[in-house]
Amino acid sequence: MTWSNVDQYIAKKLILSKENDIFKKILSRCQEHNLPDIQVTALQGKFLHLLIQLTQAKRVLEIGTLGGYSTLWMAKALSKDGYLLSLESHPLHHQVANKNILDARLDTTVELRLGNANEILPQLVEQKSQPFDFIFIDADKPSNPNYLKWSLKLSKPGSVIVCDNVVRNGELINMNNQNPGVSGIRDFFDLIADEPSLNATALQTVGEKGYDGFAIAVVNSV
Ligand code: SAH
Ligand code: DHB
Ligand code: MG
Repeated sequence: MTWSNVDQYIAKKLILSKENDIFKKILSRCQEHNLPDIQVTALQGKFLHLLIQLTQAKRVLEIGTLGGYSTLWMAKALSKDGYLLSLESHPLHHQVANKNILDARLDTTVELRLGNANEILPQLVEQKSQPFDFIFIDADKPSNPNYLKWSLKLSKPGSVIVCDNVVRNGELINMNNQNPGVSGIRDFFDLIADEPSLNATALQTVGEKGYDGFAIAVVNSV
């Protein structure tokens, strides 16, 4: 596909030549353990990294760690006093991510927590967690509406919420597709539309991982 080749061209020119080998290393560890190949692309990881730099976020929450590839991109944008908490329900994914984060020497910045995000998020609210400046939602798609609700409780005016996989090869607008992985995304958009504190857009993406999209929302004071 042209867009895969374009991804590779840009990644080679702007990204991978300048970053160290750790990204390659952690992806090969993910492959060794047969983790699904569904992490963000290098260009998308760098985009998340730049968003964190732009917003000068200090506290980042990620929902869906997998092997820690997106985690690493985001954590590398944080300063020494930054903190990233990433939630993952699959023990093997969590274990591989732990090794990857240790390898990248980011274990003082990154905390990986094993468990169902649908349970951990309410616990964070209950425990009066400090708000997060940046939240990346990228786990099971049917839970997206729930993740958005809890993200709002864990954010403050100015916080940014990004959600991956909101287009799904265009299935978003195929109303015959009532798969919960797709209807969850529609419900997620409905929630944003009805939420006065959220100012949002979505960008369709093409690249190595096919056709999908990122939703991006800023929390405003209302
Ligand atoms: N953000 C990663 C990709 C995440 S893939 C990256 O781009 O590198 C989605 C991950 O969400 C999978 O590892 C899956 O095990 C995890 N997941 C699915 N349901 C979950 C849940 N209820 N709570 C926490 N993690 C979940
Ligand atoms: C899936 C999940 C993702 O986070 C992703 O980026 C691509 C696919 C999935 O569960 O199919
Ligand atoms: Mg994703």
